[in-house]
Amino acid sequence: MTTDTTTQGAAEGAVAPGETVLDARGVTMRFGGLTAVRNVDLTVNSGEIVGLIGPNGAGKTTFFNCLTGLYVPTEGEVRFRGEVLPPKSFKVTAAGIARTFQNIRLFANMTVLENVLVGRHTRTKEGFWSAILRGPGFHRAEKASRERAMELLEFVGLEAKAEHLARNLPYGEQRKLEIARALASEPGLLLLDEPTAGMNPQETRATEELVFAIRDKGIAVLVIEHDMRFIFNLCDRVAVLVQGEKLIEGDSATVQGDERVVAAYLGEPFEGAPGEEAPAAAPAEGSQAEAVTTEAAEASAAAAAEAPEAEPVEPSEPEAQASDAETSQAQADEAPAEAEAPADTVTDAVPGKENDR
Ligand SMILES: Nc1ncnc2c1ncn2[C@@H]1O[C@H](COP(=O)(O)OP(=O)(O)O)[C@@H](O)[C@H]1O
Ligand SMILES: [Mg+2]
Repeated sequence: MTTDTTTQGAAEGAVAPGETVLDARGVTMRFGGLTAVRNVDLTVNSGEIVGLIGPNGAGKTTFFNCLTGLYVPTEGEVRFRGEVLPPKSFKVTAAGIARTFQNIRLFANMTVLENVLVGRHTRTKEGFWSAILRGPGFHRAEKASRERAMELLEFVGLEAKAEHLARNLPYGEQRKLEIARALASEPGLLLLDEPTAGMNPQETRATEELVFAIRDKGIAVLVIEHDMRFIFNLCDRVAVLVQGEKLIEGDSATVQGDERVVAAYLGEPFEGAPGEEAPAAAPAEGSQAEAVTTEAAEASAAAAAEAPEAEPVEPSEPEAQASDAETSQAQADEAPAEAEAPADTVTDAVPGKENDR
């Protein structure tokens, strides 16, 4: 895949071609006796879209949380553009990693535009409190910020809804708004946690195009998703997590063709699986691969629908406090454990996605 970061379309936080953007080594995350992520290595290079897949409970979101300062890994090290990550989520955002959440987290009673402006606070000199208090200097910065926020809304296709309340957006548009807000911090790496969950096929297609466009602006992307068609169309490389460990990593054809992936992900071989009818998996554009990925997507959608029973909500929700912290520059990881998402946030519209840590 080629990425032209020299065009005028390159984003502010864009990373030069050939650079290792993310370098996670030996990342392990334990919760008491449970090892949710075990010794995972993963790199993302500039210009790349990398996929992270695996069954529910495999540790994907936990791994993301280790990459964004929400969790400090029990073992291992994460470097972003060569620097070890700071252990606070707002510092990670300032360093250049932005993310969206498996559970949508927007400010429900703010407008679409205001939500994006909140995302800009790590990039404005005045910062969040000045924006809230309308202090001196705020108005100077405001115009430029609003222009950039409007540009981003245009980029994701929401400019016509800038003044709508976030809570009134249909679900798919809320996900787009989360992406716009993440982009507002001008990241060099964007992490997307199930960006198409709950979307219809048209919205999913549009999200695919949006992710390609983000990549073309020089922003590397790491994406978790259950929709295999989406993943294998989109990604230059795909890593598979199973029970916290990386089972395999490779290009789409390699991963689709690996029988351990089929077994781990779907439980049993499925009709049209690589090796059943043909000797090898076709490349993503091949019709066989299409059929394979469609079936996988359907199976994973069914698995996702079962999620509420399979994965009860934990009593504590560290990410909720951290989400709060991201927008308030509060400390991300030392708040009371029972903290909930801010009362003002939109909760996820998709049932079964509560397990968003
Ligand atoms: N804060 C936490 N405390 C205890 N266990 C957790 C916590 N976060 C995640 N887990 C557990 O870690 C495992 C991986 O969860 P998660 O990362 O959400 O998986 P995935 O995103 O792949 O579905 C699950 O068994 C989950 O219950
Ligand atoms: Mg998850």
